[in-house]
Amino acid sequence: MKQTAAASERNRGPILEVLSPLLPEAGRILEVASGPGIHVVAFAEARPDLDWQPSDPDPHARASIAAWIAERRLANVAQPLDLDVTRPDWPDDAVGPFDGLVTVNLLHVAPWAACEGLMAGAARLLAPGAFLFVYGPFMRDGRHNSEGNRQFDRSLRAQDPALGLRDLNDVTDCAAHSGLALEAIVEMPANNRSLVFRQG
Ligand SMILES: C[S@@+](CC[C@H](N)C(=O)[O-])C[C@H]1O[C@@H](n2cnc3c(N)ncnc32)[C@H](O)[C@@H]1O
Repeated sequence: MKQTAAASERNRGPILEVLSPLLPEAGRILEVASGPGIHVVAFAEARPDLDWQPSDPDPHARASIAAWIAERRLANVAQPLDLDVTRPDWPDDAVGPFDGLVTVNLLHVAPWAACEGLMAGAARLLAPGAFLFVYGPFMRDGRHNSEGNRQFDRSLRAQDPALGLRDLNDVTDCAAHSGLALEAIVEMPANNRSLVFRQG
């Protein structure tokens, strides 16, 4: 059941470095699109004093997350929720307020409606002043920041024209529309970026 992912194992350290200073002293953090669960396990082990809520719409991903939770005996990680950000009805258990929301490598592998759903959901569920952390490859002002990302974008759009790398301007506009203010853009290894938004 337990899945691994080389990219997630590589980026969890750099992500945790940016995420750590954002984390509150106490509270609940929701992860959207947890995938195999590599990140939530690393985050929960780094901060056992916080309560972590993973989620993913894919049942195989949820089985993997549950297997990781069981193997690591993580008492501070809830069972994964079936949460698709494009759906208007988020699960009843995803009841806010949350003190932070994290998502890694979602926006380029889902239609644009996922960005709209993520921002609207974050605005609904986050406590005042709580953060939204979004990690992935992004364009800026319509330009890619590496040839690798350009090719990746092309291959995603060839699979499905609704997918592909998003532009930072579009993502921040979408966030602002839901009342989330851009706080920071952090350049990350392998031409990725971390975006930090703040609930008003
Ligand atoms: C590239 S994987 C990243 C997984 C994990 N965050 C990581 O970095 O290891 C993308 C994940 O997004 C999930 N996903 C796709 N569409 C989604 C949606 N509309 N709402 C929530 N999650 C979605 C997929 O099921 C998949 O697990």
